[in-house]
Amino acid sequence: MIAVPTLGGLGEKDQSKIDNSIRTVMGNIKKRTLGSGKHAIQVTALGLGCMGMSWHRTFIPDRQPMIALIRKAYDMGVNFFDTAEAYGPWRNEELVGEAIQSFRKNIILCSKFGFNIQNGQLSGLNSSPTHIREVVEQSLKRLKTDYIDLLYQHRIDPNVPIEDVAGTVKDLIKEGKVLHFGLSEADPANIRKAHAVQPVTALQTEYSIISRDAERDILDTCEQLGIGFVAYSPIARALLSGYINPLTKFDPDNDNRDTLPRYTPEAITANWPFIEAIQDFGNSRGLTATQVSLAWLLAQKPWIVPIPGTTKQAHLQENLWAIDYEFTPDELKVFTDTIGKIRIVGARN
Ligand code: ATR
Repeated sequence: MIAVPTLGGLGEKDQSKIDNSIRTVMGNIKKRTLGSGKHAIQVTALGLGCMGMSWHRTFIPDRQPMIALIRKAYDMGVNFFDTAEAYGPWRNEELVGEAIQSFRKNIILCSKFGFNIQNGQLSGLNSSPTHIREVVEQSLKRLKTDYIDLLYQHRIDPNVPIEDVAGTVKDLIKEGKVLHFGLSEADPANIRKAHAVQPVTALQTEYSIISRDAERDILDTCEQLGIGFVAYSPIARALLSGYINPLTKFDPDNDNRDTLPRYTPEAITANWPFIEAIQDFGNSRGLTATQVSLAWLLAQKPWIVPIPGTTKQAHLQENLWAIDYEFTPDELKVFTDTIGKIRIVGARN
């Protein structure tokens, strides 16, 4: 057990009272359904993206506090946890696997396959059936479990027909090693082909108030097919929180934001009016910019579930409170129109 620092002046008993009341308030987090019929899962309206606890961010915290944070998220009512073989690689699955042991059966655990990994680095796509099977066996070991609730193909592999990928996952489902099938950043044609072989429960794709590509045709495809949508990077990798600014340094070796056009100092400066418009909306309602951004996503469709990443309990709590904010239809329209008029600089990837 690590010692949890108490708030100034509070003893351990007071801290535990606070933890209990958070549990009471948060224990009944609203749920959403992803997918249809026997392929549906019930998950909390926000999941926890675990990637940044081990990978692609400038400050990777120590392991033990991250294990404690995942457990705290569960205590607060979260039941939807996202990882991938690629995150680390491997380290993130190992971390999540250790953290969830005591409540594994009560959660929806998601992971992903789809890359070759050599010398600890990703080295190209690989969704060949043999490779998928190998990865799943290894993921199960790292996650210390005998099934993965939702297994995503991480990226479409142009060298492997999507029907073969879906067929392999279908077999893994028959064998009980996987319960449900997901895709990530897939286009409508591939979603349809995959869904015809093995119904897809959820598509995981980047979507946030500042990255709205999914609105072009992806959300319609999901709606038509009854596929749930999991929004990754819903805070645009912290940009929407207002916590990063043109002086923020990203580690060039470890933080993918260092290579993304939207995170150059120039783009951050140019996009600042967008962040301010979100802050203005939140200020008069007692919401942070992050909460506005998450509530806005939740307001788009009842089958969208954002998975914000965080390494801090205070942020986790703040984010979960966003679930309770409901836009009125007028408010949503006016706010969306207002921010829709602001030109965004820098591509998302
Ligand atoms: P990803 O999971 O791809 O990193 P994201 O969920 O859009 O993308 O954003 C995660 C980032 O937002 C993290 O850097 C996280 O930083 P902390 O670990 O410091 O929390 C940041 N973030 C998450 N919630 C936040 C909040 N409530 N306020 C400020 N930053 C937040």
